[in-house]
Amino acid sequence: MKVDLSGALLNEFRKAEKEYEEAIARGDAEEAKKAAMKCAKLLREIAKYAPNREHYLKLAEKWEKASDVKIRRAVSENGKETEEDFSNYVKSFISQSKVTWNDIAGLDDVKRLMKETIVLSLIQKPESIQPWKGIMFFGPPGTGKTLLASACAGSLKATFFNVRTSMILSKYFGESSKIVSALYDVARDKSPSIVFIDEFDALTTKRDEMSEASRRMLATILAELDGFIDKKSERFVLTLAATNTPWDLDEAVLSRFSRRIYVPLPDKEAIKAMIRIHTKGLELKADLETIAARCVEKFYSGRDVSALCKEATWNMVREMNRLEELANLPFEELMKKRLNLRPLTLSDFEEAFKKIKSPLTKKEIERYEKWAEEFGSR
Ligand SMILES: Nc1ncnc2c1ncn2[C@@H]1O[C@H](COP(=O)(O)OP(=O)(O)OP(=O)(O)O)[C@@H](O)[C@H]1O
Ligand SMILES: [Mg+2]
Repeated sequence: MKVDLSGALLNEFRKAEKEYEEAIARGDAEEAKKAAMKCAKLLREIAKYAPNREHYLKLAEKWEKASDVKIRRAVSENGKETEEDFSNYVKSFISQSKVTWNDIAGLDDVKRLMKETIVLSLIQKPESIQPWKGIMFFGPPGTGKTLLASACAGSLKATFFNVRTSMILSKYFGESSKIVSALYDVARDKSPSIVFIDEFDALTTKRDEMSEASRRMLATILAELDGFIDKKSERFVLTLAATNTPWDLDEAVLSRFSRRIYVPLPDKEAIKAMIRIHTKGLELKADLETIAARCVEKFYSGRDVSALCKEATWNMVREMNRLEELANLPFEELMKKRLNLRPLTLSDFEEAFKKIKSPLTKKEIERYEKWAEEFGSR
């Protein structure tokens, strides 16, 4: 394994990218421009060291352009966005998913159901057989809901719209329902498409403080799911939504998302598979059974297991390498060095367990289970 110092720059880049998204969401053109230029600069820096230099240079160019065109469109100065602006804005939600079903441990029933839905949507069939247009994933944080949506898109090579409701609801774009309409228009156009609506809880009507913008946005999504405004119904557009608080969903939402899938905490077998996924390329000399049992006891989610593996790996890497000393070497020399590794042991994990705490309690898990029992699909 090579020491990859461009990782630090990549982290910086991700931060800048987030700053850019947030500025766009706030409608702050100046900050967005600054962040976009920062992104471009970092990518040019990364290109100096990365093997696939051209790729990063191209990306940098894109960001340089983004600092101009995209912002002008997204943050219209006179506040009068045109349909074209909306459509360009929703195109920025499109992301390329490389996640495959094999990247997801456990959740076999959910994976099977998603595959079946996709097949049923695409295959020739009599009119009376209609697949679900909307599927809701619910469950504790970090259990693989986003991962499932990405795998759906990845396996289909579908256009993947990764939408966080907070992005649309940002104050600047008071016209959230127009954005949703534009979203579905573009999704139909670029079919097959998966529209993934994360943080669906922000649109739940049971909340008193729900804003007018949320209300309108929700109504438009539900109308799209009803299919009344489905202009090209032969196109494949699947809406996947995710929430951590299913109990806040009201009747109107529940009836449109007739498939409600519980994505629970992983069991022992799933955790063992996850550990293998998250320690790929490393040797394990630890009893997976023991580690997995501890994870179950501690109510670990997939995200926690992933963090545990990172922490355990980090413990081993630190012990085997003098990273701080290496930091004095020039970049070119460092890129040629190899990391010293040894198999991961139980004690690496023991240390890691101390650092990773699940935010969940037994009571909260029971609440999910009860809701799943009552309202979930099987
Ligand atoms: N079943 C799984 N198999 C492999 N890795 C998983 C699994 N579930 C979670 N993970 C790990 O945890 C991370 C977080 O998962 P993900 O983003 O899908 O959670 P989520 O359910 O969408 O959480 P949230 O409700 O907070 O949005 C993943 O990137 C992955 O590393
Ligand atoms: Mg998620």
